[in-house]
Amino acid sequence: MTPLLEARGVTRTLPGAVPVTLVRDITLAIGEGEFVAVTGPSGSGKSSLLYLLGLLDRPTEGRVLIEGQDTAGLSAGALARLRRERLGFVFQFHFLLPEFTALENLLLPMRRAGLEAEAALRARAEWLLERFGLADAMRKYPEQLSGGMRQRVAVARALANDPALVLADEPTGNLDSVNAAGMFDLFESLVSEHGRSIVVVTHDPHLAVRAGRQVRLVDGRIVEDTGAVPA
Ligand SMILES: Nc1ncnc2c1ncn2[C@@H]1O[C@H](COP(=O)(O)OP(=O)(O)O)[C@@H](O)[C@H]1O
Ligand SMILES: [Mg+2]
Repeated sequence: MTPLLEARGVTRTLPGAVPVTLVRDITLAIGEGEFVAVTGPSGSGKSSLLYLLGLLDRPTEGRVLIEGQDTAGLSAGALARLRRERLGFVFQFHFLLPEFTALENLLLPMRRAGLEAEAALRARAEWLLERFGLADAMRKYPEQLSGGMRQRVAVARALANDPALVLADEPTGNLDSVNAAGMFDLFESLVSEHGRSIVVVTHDPHLAVRAGRQVRLVDGRIVEDTGAVPA
């Protein structure tokens, strides 16, 4: 079966007098319904890897394929469309738009994707927020919400367009242990009930073991992958 997302020998080097290599020779295939935790020391390239997998950055060597399609030849517009329709992102710092309510923060990317009529978008956005225990927060602005609530809005937003793959960079970094565990409960249900795939960067070993697969980075290289298919 064609993997949902695949990195083949991906290296990303920043040019300059002293070139900096962010990740080296990454080969990784993520299938449908996989829950992958990415761990590694600070500066090991976890965020850089997520940017590459999420088509927010391009490799200097190697290839990233989505559903078997090589993304190297795609225009910026085509990449943006793939991101919008197939991928969902959760960043460590929530990046909600402060001048919009929680509900509007979900509706904006949904409108951009333009897949459904406004009423259907609104119904789905409200359903998602309710599912995250945010029914009372829908019409509030980010600054009126607690850190945990904002993070849940950010996850709800990442799911707004029903992505096949969610990429989350330390989404629990600012959460207490109860909220962090709750977010992982949610990831589990997305995978087990909805067949979605998740790649989540986490520092927390107790959370990492809840993923079916652990990928560990050191100095930009994969040093362990519990789900790698033997060549
Ligand atoms: N724009 C940049 N310019 C120079 N170095 C960078 C840049 N982005 C990341 N790095 C370096 O690349 C390495 C990997 O960074 P990153 O992917 O953020 O690691 P992690 O998320 O695991 O902490 C680090 O050593 C970091 O300092
Ligand atoms: Mg990082």
